[in-house]
Amino acid sequence: MRTVRFGIIGCGLMGREFASAAARWCHLAEMNVRPEIAAVCDSNASMTKWFSDNFASIRQISADYREILANPEVEAVYIAVPHNLHAEFYCAAIEAGKHLMGEKPFGIDIHANRRIMSCIRHHPEVFVRCSSESIFFPSMQRIGRMLESGVFGRIIEVNSGFLHSSDLDPSKPINWKRILKFNGEYGCMGDLGMHACHMPFRAGWYPKDVRAILSNIVPERPDGKGAVVPCEIWDNATLLCATDDVDGNEFPMTIKTQRIAPGNTNTWFIEIFGAKASARWSSKQANTLEIMEYKGGEQAWQVFDMGHGMSYKSITGGIFETGFSDTILQMWAAFLYEFDKGKPIAKFAGTVTPSEVEASHHLFSAALESERKCSVEKIKPETL
Ligand SMILES: NC(=O)c1ccc[n+]([C@@H]2O[C@H](COP(=O)([O-])OP(=O)(O)OC[C@H]3O[C@@H](n4cnc5c(N)ncnc54)[C@H](O)[C@@H]3O)[C@@H](O)[C@H]2O)c1
Repeated sequence: MRTVRFGIIGCGLMGREFASAAARWCHLAEMNVRPEIAAVCDSNASMTKWFSDNFASIRQISADYREILANPEVEAVYIAVPHNLHAEFYCAAIEAGKHLMGEKPFGIDIHANRRIMSCIRHHPEVFVRCSSESIFFPSMQRIGRMLESGVFGRIIEVNSGFLHSSDLDPSKPINWKRILKFNGEYGCMGDLGMHACHMPFRAGWYPKDVRAILSNIVPERPDGKGAVVPCEIWDNATLLCATDDVDGNEFPMTIKTQRIAPGNTNTWFIEIFGAKASARWSSKQANTLEIMEYKGGEQAWQVFDMGHGMSYKSITGGIFETGFSDTILQMWAAFLYEFDKGKPIAKFAGTVTPSEVEASHHLFSAALESERKCSVEKIKPETL
């Protein structure tokens, strides 16, 4: 089994998720490559304790990411830090020759993303991917296989979204994800948008234009120290996009990202309506996939229990349900499988590519313009 030594830069919520996935790598049945957490970095020293308490493999702990990048033992890095740091940290990692899994939005704005894309193009020897795990739910993988076999026929409409309600409570104190200079002007789109775009982009559905309605529903929040401060971030975004299917037929696609979606704690969903078949899935009922095939006559939705039909085989029995941390493990399996073998195990079982994340920046930047001008904005055609 090949071992890839990783440094984790940013030891918060997502840094811990990766380390935990690495700790249960034996859960994956057929991998020839595994990650080992060799180094961790966080500017807040208290964040690294959980790692040193739980991972004997860690030989380097630092508050300075440059020390991790200078460590020849570290072959790859996972960088999960606030958005304002993405361009600096990702470019430094790529230039140091470290393979990179970076968190979305992969640059706080389109200018930061352009810097990162330029580094990637100058270093083709470095393997770079962006994190997004929802596509690894078995239902999404099944929809991916349906797309590959062309069963949907002409696409009529697609709705994809990510809804949660972590900001529904207006008394929740502000944190970096609600502050413009750390999170960026995209607001909820930068935070949630790549998740909603992953499956459509992988299907080849790149929006041609967008009419966006963005909402700042809670414009101020407590600062946690007794004062109230402005909260300038877009809480919710609805993007209506004219999109072509692979045969060049136009259809409407909505990409919805909401931090204030009453009744949703963390809901990914996708609905694909086609002339010959339709499918819909929501993580609210993660085990349930609905499919309707139309051959004339009556229309009837079929309901499938998806169990644990993972693309990267796991030891869990096929009848058991799938959850968030299972998809994180699958996403990491996808990253390392593709790193090792040069391509993912299946078209829809791959992590987000740099060109897909670049396309998301074109969409979100156009959406900002659309909101500003109350206009339909054309989107630069994908060039990669
Ligand atoms: N894939 C997903 O489902 C998912 C979910 C949540 C967040 N994210 C993304 O992950 C990234 C991090 O989000 P998070 O929720 O883990 O945030 P977090 O606040 O929990 O963790 C970020 C960590 O970065 C550290 N940090 C800040 N400045 C640093 C510096 N200069 N050097 C080193 N460490 C520094 C912080 O101390 C903190 O521990 C963001 O890009 C976010 O959009 C992805």
